[in-house]
Amino acid sequence: MTLINENYLHLEESYLFSKINQKVEDYQGKNPEANIISMGIGDVTRPLPHAVIEAFHRAVDEMAEKETFKGYGPEQGYPFLRRAIIENDYKPRGVKLSLGEVFISDGAKCDTANIQEIFSKDNKVAITDPVYPVYVESNVMAGRGGPLDKEGRYKNITYLPCTAENNFQPPLPEERVDLIYLCYPNNPTGTSLTKDQLREWVDYAMDNKSIILFDGAYEAYIQEERIPHSIYEIEGAREVAIEFRSFSKTAGFTGVRCAYTIVPEELEAEDTQGKTHQVNRLWNRRQTTKFNGVSYPVQVAAAATYTKRGQREIQESIGYYMENARIIRENLKEAGLEYYGGVNAPYIWVKTPGMSSWEFFDKLLEEAQVVVTPGTGFGPHGEGYIRISAFNSRKNTERAMERIKGLEF
Ligand code: MLT
Repeated sequence: MTLINENYLHLEESYLFSKINQKVEDYQGKNPEANIISMGIGDVTRPLPHAVIEAFHRAVDEMAEKETFKGYGPEQGYPFLRRAIIENDYKPRGVKLSLGEVFISDGAKCDTANIQEIFSKDNKVAITDPVYPVYVESNVMAGRGGPLDKEGRYKNITYLPCTAENNFQPPLPEERVDLIYLCYPNNPTGTSLTKDQLREWVDYAMDNKSIILFDGAYEAYIQEERIPHSIYEIEGAREVAIEFRSFSKTAGFTGVRCAYTIVPEELEAEDTQGKTHQVNRLWNRRQTTKFNGVSYPVQVAAAATYTKRGQREIQESIGYYMENARIIRENLKEAGLEYYGGVNAPYIWVKTPGMSSWEFFDKLLEEAQVVVTPGTGFGPHGEGYIRISAFNSRKNTERAMERIKGLEF
């Protein structure tokens, strides 16, 4: 009989957000009148900006005419979008990139999950704990995790605990690691790293010849000057870091799908003979074989986010979600709950009032009909916390907070 990839057997039964959906569905099935408010998965709720919709329509119409129809596009993305990214997201911050360093894709989730396959299975991987589960599980699938222990840790992965005691700043690993996943502003804790704090990681990677996989999916939510928008704002980062960005949370593209990954030309890794190789070439090789690019209308729509009108509309949406975050924080304070984050990120990390993450999840679902994400789903150090997302409507956010405030803890 055909053999399976046994690494999959190390994984938990289901992906975190599938498990939550199942629980919510079961509850709704038993309580059809319940008006459930989702503050769980970080999915946007505001429609696409008008500037984006108009560009999207125009591009679809182009596909209807012989003269403007487009078949396969470049696997790396159309130059018009890659240029717009370089000019708008990087140049104003003093970061110079070339076209060949920008790869368009259909999501940061796919890219952060796929990137590991261009590196050896023998590499040691470090993740922050709690963490976005995709980084861990994609490495487990590839055989870098090993078995899961009773505490919920994969044996061969290095966990960097982020706790209230260390201000959710990951400690440098005690043993040398090869690949380090960092997500800032952070999902799930909603906290961020200053330039000096991020510099420590770039220095570590330079000293240890490690590679940082930097997920900047929530970059657009940064409100404070002291927080860097790109890891390349730190000197030396081009030699040690890959950066992932997305239009999902920035411009409401979760259902449209468009993201990009930066792989600098200076970034190198070696083979077992000690010969160095350009990581950019490997990623390009991987993408050209396994990916046929993002659809033309989607790329045109993404490029429209950089127009004056697109930028204004995006800022409006981000402001709206961040006002939700403020309302959540204010109400949690009134409820006497301890919380973190929500200042430079759309997530608020809340300490449970003396119960486990799943117990608090159940209480909020059953007694307030509010869905949150249990912290333990993000790793062992997420136990005792839940995550609240600020991506709902104002009305639902306010309603959810009123309901939570009405509970007895
Ligand atoms: C989350 O809720 O953590 C995110 O929405 C998941 C994702 O972006 O894939």
